[in-house]
Amino acid sequence: MKISVIGTGYVGLVTGTCLAETGNEVICVDIDKAKVEKMRNGIVPIYEPHLDVLFERNIKANRLKFTTSLEEGLDHGDIIFLALPTPEDEDGSADLSYVLNVSEEIGKKIKEYKVIVDKSTVPVGTAEKVHSVIAKNASCEFDVVSNPEFLREGFAVDDFLKPERIVVGSSSERATALMKKLYSPFVRSGNPIIIMDEKSAELTKYAANSFLATKITFMNEIANYCEKVGADVDMVRAGMGTDSRIGKRFLFPGIGYGGSCFPKDVKALQKAGKDVDYDFKILNSVIEINSAQKTILLPKIESYFKNDLKGKNIAIWGLAFKPETDDIREAPSIDMMEALLAKGAKLQVFDPEAMPNIEKRFGNKLNYSESMYAALENADALLICTEWSIFRTPNFSKLNQLLKQPIIFDGRNLYNVNEIEAEGFTYISIGRKA
Ligand code: UGA
Repeated sequence: MKISVIGTGYVGLVTGTCLAETGNEVICVDIDKAKVEKMRNGIVPIYEPHLDVLFERNIKANRLKFTTSLEEGLDHGDIIFLALPTPEDEDGSADLSYVLNVSEEIGKKIKEYKVIVDKSTVPVGTAEKVHSVIAKNASCEFDVVSNPEFLREGFAVDDFLKPERIVVGSSSERATALMKKLYSPFVRSGNPIIIMDEKSAELTKYAANSFLATKITFMNEIANYCEKVGADVDMVRAGMGTDSRIGKRFLFPGIGYGGSCFPKDVKALQKAGKDVDYDFKILNSVIEINSAQKTILLPKIESYFKNDLKGKNIAIWGLAFKPETDDIREAPSIDMMEALLAKGAKLQVFDPEAMPNIEKRFGNKLNYSESMYAALENADALLICTEWSIFRTPNFSKLNQLLKQPIIFDGRNLYNVNEIEAEGFTYISIGRKA
């Protein structure tokens, strides 16, 4: 099939590349000339495991092309994906200007039947808006479909190629048939393509992300309570998670959720509720608790250093909002670093991928280390903010030698408490005995 993808951000690029992988002819459109030039030369503009291999293979096979011309994109695709940014407005709602501006152009330029697919996370009612903006100028038939994506950064290629489900919001049989045909290679294992109306599809995405953010936040509260009463959150998690109604995943407590999705989507659903006079009380709490959770270790660090962090060297491992990404949006590390800097601490930081992004934001306020061990030299303590695999089994005797004091504050519960104490460390983590 002929596919166009408008917008080559994270979602657009993964969608375009994976659709080319199943034999479709894909053109990706972006207004950023330099980025398009790079992609034409086979350079993947984001860090995402396995994407580079698929990218190269499909460019070579001539199935994946890039252009800055919206007109070329609109001419090419039978199905046109909108994978445009929907940034958070000042009031927390999603800013639809990119989506609606491109829709206006689509209306003016399409010459034959097209399916326009909303792939971005957009508020309930957007498909309807997109439809009416296109209809103002369109001289041919078209359908608008909502098809939210459920990709996780770091696992996006796998999530796209082997989705647990595909949600399609469509009220047109013609469009539904095309979408089913497009996605059939991805659901051969029997996972469902769930067809529903456009509004329900749009809400499914917000509901799924908000539920997961709530699940994590619930566990963070249980962890905080465990500390008060001397229970162990790992045990509670194991006991709860084995109930298949609850499930084992997304029950890991820590210093809060971050990223470009959960924080934005929870706030957007909260705001969308307010717009129709519905107060999502549970989301109000989730936002408040998560914001406090990001610096939950700060009082513990202060108390360890007797409220005097001035001039203390703190090593930080992990800056990205989660492992396997260079993304630092809403990363808990940022809140921790800002709080520690405000208290006069000096920070020696290391992350396998996110250092350039952090450097852009913090400049010379931080010391950037070349390796996880270099960050420990002369450090008074180690603080872990992201659970990259390389931090999971470090050389503890080296760590002990390098740190001035054997103290680890762990925001991601990487180590077994008894084992690490046996190695001679003071170990403070989340929801477990100190
Ligand atoms: C999330 C969803 O998982 C995807 O399904 C969705 O498509 C995506 O948002 C999106 O809307 O685009 P992502 O933000 O990439 O994906 O990351 P997750 O792996 O879900 O992690 C989000 C945050 O929750 C991270 O900060 C992570 O550290 C935190 N988390 C996750 C926990 O604190 N505990 C857990 O048990 C799981």
